[in-house]
Amino acid sequence: MITPRIVILGPQGAGKGTQAGRLKRRLRIPHFSPGELLRREMAKGTPLGKKITETMNAGGLIKDRDTNAVMRRVLRQAKTGWICDGYPRRMGQVVPMFRFARPNILLLLDITDQAAIRRLSGRRVCARGHVYHLQHDPPEHRGRCDRDGLPLKQRDDDTPKAIRKRLHIYHHETEPMIKWLQGKVPIISVDAHQPIPAVYRNLLKQMKRLPWLSSRLRSN
Ligand code: AP5
Repeated sequence: MITPRIVILGPQGAGKGTQAGRLKRRLRIPHFSPGELLRREMAKGTPLGKKITETMNAGGLIKDRDTNAVMRRVLRQAKTGWICDGYPRRMGQVVPMFRFARPNILLLLDITDQAAIRRLSGRRVCARGHVYHLQHDPPEHRGRCDRDGLPLKQRDDDTPKAIRKRLHIYHHETEPMIKWLQGKVPIISVDAHQPIPAVYRNLLKQMKRLPWLSSRLRSN
């Protein structure tokens, strides 16, 4: 049986983390997000965490050497497959990734910059990385995470300036990399302006068209 090695990409706020969370439960595979892994390094105050804090908060990308090392470690251990959200993001990541963990499907969430900016201003997260939206996906108890009761706050990089920088990087570095991936890996693209359950349904519908993934989705 082919193990799913899924990359999910899209502009900031497109819903990569939200959809990856659903797909990982459906496919019973781990979900890795460099953003989340790097934020954990910052929260723990490790040497890497201290080195990257300023860049992360300003919306810049972390050096390829550091990001690739973090991702190589987790992906190599995931023998049952994986879903990777926000990695790779540029040529200096995709080329080494093809050597240590070649993906077999790319999911692309399509959204305009204006919609992405609106979404990110309503995002709230807890310290363990659980994500909500004030209007579209609110917690049951205002200001508290449903899963661990921790207080919800805005991410430090969800400021207008950092969001603009992150979107600029997406258009100038990630989009050219996506062009490079065309023909090398099957690409499924969905309109991410729709509500969360509709985006998920569209992803599943298109994923089921791939015979090797279809049987896996039906059996889970
Ligand atoms: P990362 O944490 O990956 O941030 P990002 O790429 O900016 O993406 P986001 O988390 O902002 O958006 P998302 O698409 O996951 O949306 P979400 O599901 O949360 O990276 C942060 C930083 O880490 C980077 O800037 C960089 O510094 C570093 N980094 C990460 N990867 C790196 C790499 N490869 N190389 C180097 N550095 C790297 O949804 C957003 C909001 O919208 C939520 O509130 C959600 O509830 C809501 N929502 C989701 N879907 C919908 C919908 N369909 N309708 C309505 N609301 C929705």
